[in-house]
Amino acid sequence: MPPHAARLISTLIRARRATSVLEIGTSNGCSAIWFADALRDTGGRLTTVDIDAERVTAALANLERAGAREYADVRHGDGAEILADTPDAPVDLVVLDAERPAYVAYWPHLRRVLKPYGILAVDNAVSHRNQVAAFRELPASAAEFAVDLHEVGDGVLTGVRVR
Ligand SMILES: C[S@@+](CC[C@H](N)C(=O)[O-])C[C@H]1O[C@@H](n2cnc3c(N)ncnc32)[C@H](O)[C@@H]1O
Repeated sequence: MPPHAARLISTLIRARRATSVLEIGTSNGCSAIWFADALRDTGGRLTTVDIDAERVTAALANLERAGAREYADVRHGDGAEILADTPDAPVDLVVLDAERPAYVAYWPHLRRVLKPYGILAVDNAVSHRNQVAAFRELPASAAEFAVDLHEVGDGVLTGVRVR
């Protein structure tokens, strides 16, 4: 995720005073460092998950090097399974930056795990518009979500759970 997109989401974390953030798609931990830094300010914690074990190892090393390791749990696994195992409404903000065609199947859990006024943030909403199009319709047509598209970085779609 380009730095400007990670910084926008970091601002949302701070503005909401989010303490529980879930990122699906850690890669080498670059965006996780931004989010963990914001969570240091709010007293919160990031859970970030990647399906690739080598990337998890790299992310742990990079978070350690950045001094942000204690604000993040880096998990190896399938984001879909971790979402399905998450109870109702403990999460302030979910970031999707993984396998875009799978997001539609994430939707029932995304709307379930977010707290009221929790935020969904989806990267690549402009750069991979076609891959995100079907998913975008779901929060856009759900009465409890206010959706917006931010033309920053590769495009960040946000949905705030307003009810
Ligand atoms: C674009 S990269 C993430 C970049 C990262 N958020 C950043 O900005 O530094 C996408 C990552 O999603 C991971 N991924 C793909 N499918 C996944 C799944 N089902 N569950 C968790 N991670 C997945 C890939 O292994 C890859 O590392």
